[in-house]
Amino acid sequence: MNAQLLDGNAVAAATRAKVAAELVEAGSPAVCLTTVLVGEDPPSQRYVRMKGRDATEIGMASRHIDVPASASQDQVAEVVGALANDPSVHGILVQLPLPGHLDTDAIIDLIPSAKDVDGLTRSSLGTLVRGAPGLVPCTPLGVIRLLEHYGLDVAGKRAIVIGRSMLVGLPLSLLLARKGIDATVTIAHSRTADLRDRCREADLVVAAVGSARMVQRDWVKPGAIVMDVGISRETHVDGTTKLVGDVDFDAVGEVAGWLTPMPGGTGAMTRACLMENTLLAARLQGIL
Ligand SMILES: NC(=O)c1ccc[n+]([C@@H]2O[C@H](COP(=O)([O-])OP(=O)(O)OC[C@H]3O[C@@H](n4cnc5c(N)ncnc54)[C@H](OP(=O)(O)O)[C@@H]3O)[C@@H](O)[C@H]2O)c1
Repeated sequence: MNAQLLDGNAVAAATRAKVAAELVEAGSPAVCLTTVLVGEDPPSQRYVRMKGRDATEIGMASRHIDVPASASQDQVAEVVGALANDPSVHGILVQLPLPGHLDTDAIIDLIPSAKDVDGLTRSSLGTLVRGAPGLVPCTPLGVIRLLEHYGLDVAGKRAIVIGRSMLVGLPLSLLLARKGIDATVTIAHSRTADLRDRCREADLVVAAVGSARMVQRDWVKPGAIVMDVGISRETHVDGTTKLVGDVDFDAVGEVAGWLTPMPGGTGAMTRACLMENTLLAARLQGIL
């Protein structure tokens, strides 16, 4: 392994400690993050539990609302609308994906922009496109925070983001191209031709696809920064399963200059940035 590790666990712990210290400095105001889960998907249940635990560990209040998978659009909208109007709730996170019969965009857009800790409402995404300050999606923010922490300056350099989702790829591409970060960004997707060659040209590769070990050693320019967002579950012949990223960690580690582990990379940062966003949401609402 030649690459230096971008240690998401360590940077996430420092981020949480900073948020906790800022809360104490502000006189420990009551800041509340509320998560909403529609249905009983076990990974989603685990994610919301971890988010609630993170919040309480740093001195925030956390609430969770379970909604049955069979709930109608109106029923889910009523839950989110009530939280939107509740002054004791400062951050609202609707765990995605929602069951297929629900209109996700319509539900997300019920969250007031100041409480939109996932940064996914039409208003938050519009603010991001404008380059104005505001709440931005947690995973892209986590990638930026990792680059900042390690002093990795990508200004004027070539970056490629593989994936163009509203949750990760697109907002991350916008952030990397933003004035002040100033990368020259290529957005790749399932119809991108010559993806390996496009990656080999890049100084920064971020893979956000969900395709196990897609990014191979010969996709990476020597010394490049490689950041793995994708998560896939691999099943072995003996029936055991393992989470793997989009990057072939061992092989790419031989050529990359910097590399995120999986787990302990971008996922850890996503959770920490949710705490950072909840603090910012409380500030936007005048709580501190
Ligand atoms: N680490 C974290 O904290 C974190 C957070 C969120 C998500 N994730 C993981 O990150 C991955 C992506 O999440 P997402 O929500 O962005 O997923 P998504 O909405 O399914 O988007 C996947 C993207 O990958 C592109 N893609 C698919 N096959 C490709 C190929 N062969 N070559 C190039 N691009 C390809 C798709 O292109 P098209 O647009 O052309 O279909 C799409 O833009 C998932 O594994 C998810 O579990 C991790």
